Amino acid sequence: MANVDNEIKGRLALVTGASGGIGAACARDLWLQGASLALTCYKNRATADALAQELSVQDQSRKISVHVADMGSAADLKQLILDLEAEHGQSGPDILIANAGYGRRIPNILDISLDEFEYTVRINLQAPFMLTKLSLPHMLRHQWGRVVFVSSIAAIGGGINGCHYAASKAGLTGMMKNLANKHAHVGITFNDVAPAMIGETGLIPDEKTVEGTAGDVKNIPVGRLGVPQECANVVTMLCRTGYMTGQSILLSGGLK
Ligand SMILES: NC(=O)c1ccc[n+]([C@@H]2O[C@H](COP(=O)([O-])OP(=O)(O)OC[C@H]3O[C@@H](n4cnc5c(N)ncnc54)[C@H](OP(=O)(O)O)[C@@H]3O)[C@@H](O)[C@H]2O)c1
Repeated sequence: MANVDNEIKGRLALVTGASGGIGAACARDLWLQGASLALTCYKNRATADALAQELSVQDQSRKISVHVADMGSAADLKQLILDLEAEHGQSGPDILIANAGYGRRIPNILDISLDEFEYTVRINLQAPFMLTKLSLPHMLRHQWGRVVFVSSIAAIGGGINGCHYAASKAGLTGMMKNLANKHAHVGITFNDVAPAMIGETGLIPDEKTVEGTAGDVKNIPVGRLGVPQECANVVTMLCRTGYMTGQSILLSGGLK
């Protein structure tokens, strides 16, 4: 029987967008599992610092670093991995949660400018591509890695946003499936979680934000918004389940 290694304790997890709702929940959950953390933020550094402070008082034997990085800047992403190495003493993360995302709500293609399309793809698809490329050499050296992309119900045509956002998230799922096939034999798994209508986030702070849209709580079969912790539950499960790879998990309260 081959070695089964699903241990998170002692690993280093890079969580992007940890200043946001879903990223912060993922960071908390992975910390509870015993991981060290490298957290990114962009405009809301104070929120990420407060999270790092909250977690580090619980356990000072592990390290948490906070990094400001613009997902739209290739230079920032390269620097992020160098800074991670300086802080944690390893050349890349063992676990990559590519969660930072952008999605200005523009439902109609006729209103989506080319600049908006390009920017959305750069943040939601190009940045996870680059981060994966930068993280993979370390994972390959150790023959162990977990990569989880935070996609969206938009990837399968649902949700409340336009085709720019859908294209960026569907691209993420396609990239995940390709990478999963290529790396299953070297101990590195790739999966995504595809949420919909997760409240307590910058994208969807509360029910009012989705009133009158396809994501109105009235249309969600379970009758409420999801919460970031439910997304974190799936992410942690994917990190702890090395037999699962190449999967996109829809987390949508029953929405299609
Ligand atoms: N909430 C939902 O229902 C839902 C549904 C489907 C998919 N998602 C996906 O879930 C992920 C997390 O979003 P969320 O719902 O937690 O929303 P959120 O609270 O607004 O968090 C978004 C995060 O992304 C970061 N970010 C945005 N643009 C960035 C940029 N250019 N460079 C670096 N970081 C950037 C933000 O950093 P700063 O705040 O520091 O700028 C923040 O940490 C996103 O990929 C989103 O598309 C969410």
